Amino acid sequence: MPKLNENYLKMKENYLFAEIAHRVDKYAKEHPGQKIIRLGIGDVTRPLEAAALKALHEGVDAMAASDTFMGYGPEHGYLFLREAIVAYYASNGVSITPEDVFISDGAKSDTGNITDLFADDNVILIPDPVYPVYVDSNVMSGRRILYIDGNADNDFLPLPDKHIHADIIYLCSPNNPTGAAYTKAQLKAWVDYALENEAVILYDSAYEAYITDPDLPRSIFAIEGAKKCAIEFCSLSKTAGFTGTRLGYTIVPTELTFTASSGETMSLNAMWNRRQTTKFNGTSYIIQHGAAAVFTKEGMAQCRENIRYYQENARMIGQMLTKKGIRFFGGKNSPYIWFECPMGMDSWTFFDYLLDHGQIVGTPGAGFGKNGRNYFRLTSFGLHENTREAMERFDKLF
Ligand SMILES: Cc1ncc(COP(=O)(O)O)c(C=O)c1O
Repeated sequence: MPKLNENYLKMKENYLFAEIAHRVDKYAKEHPGQKIIRLGIGDVTRPLEAAALKALHEGVDAMAASDTFMGYGPEHGYLFLREAIVAYYASNGVSITPEDVFISDGAKSDTGNITDLFADDNVILIPDPVYPVYVDSNVMSGRRILYIDGNADNDFLPLPDKHIHADIIYLCSPNNPTGAAYTKAQLKAWVDYALENEAVILYDSAYEAYITDPDLPRSIFAIEGAKKCAIEFCSLSKTAGFTGTRLGYTIVPTELTFTASSGETMSLNAMWNRRQTTKFNGTSYIIQHGAAAVFTKEGMAQCRENIRYYQENARMIGQMLTKKGIRFFGGKNSPYIWFECPMGMDSWTFFDYLLDHGQIVGTPGAGFGKNGRNYFRLTSFGLHENTREAMERFDKLF
């Protein structure tokens, strides 16, 4: 009989979205004909932009002739795409090299798989509330996790505590679920802490394209010293509607090295390359060709247009919460709006209240950690008309 990874027994059931679906289905069956508006989804709804779509078609056509056919590609990703990403970073004032960039099928795989590079007896620091993948992928390997509280007192942007030592720190900015985004000074505090503790920061910037405030950093590598202590995960999922198409990229600077117990220097870039070349055979040429078009001038302009569409929804939601005197986080530099449940309700009670009385579906904050118990997440990924109607209903409820 195989010995199983019994850490799986310690994992909480991933019941959040299943439970939401169950409650919504039950309500829909009991109230046929009622229009339910879903503002809980973390998935985009707008179709792929024209530039990417055209390039995806070209990629498919290339497969039709033997002189343009592409088989196995480099596990690291095609150079044309890595160079496009380097140029994109440069346009945001951040300098990286193609050797630092690894193409993948998305940020979820990479944030989960990166744990392969680290021993199991590291101390992991994870903010709460949080994108659940960071927690689950470490529980799977039996690692010790310390949580750091995000709450209204710190604007859901926890800062390092110099009395606590951690080896691996997860940060997500702009944050899912809270929508909060770190300033340069706040990120610098984390970089300084990591350098002092010889720790590594695993920085998830999946929502960087939603940052509108020019003073906010769109990459941790905008902070001096970060290349010696950070890995950054990014994705075209929310930037360019690639949630179904799948393309992510991870920046592991060649400068990022640590000393092994033998005294040897180990490069995380070389280790990740070794890991990927062993366990991954690359993202398809077709998708990488489509992704490269996203980084062209035309592609970027089309992305911005889609993002502006979602931002208008976020504005409508924020305007209503302001009218109701409900303090909220996010919405400006993020597609997520996070607020304390009105009338002292906990997040599941509020979920039922909003569904029963307004036929609106959101996401209970309890699904993202204990600090989300009394909070609620709405997203801006719906249609304008549905978001507007949801807010009209909200207006009548409170
Ligand atoms: C913070 C965060 N990181 C990563 C992901 C996953 O991105 P991808 O679609 O590239 O796997 C998500 C998706 O919702 C997310 O919210």
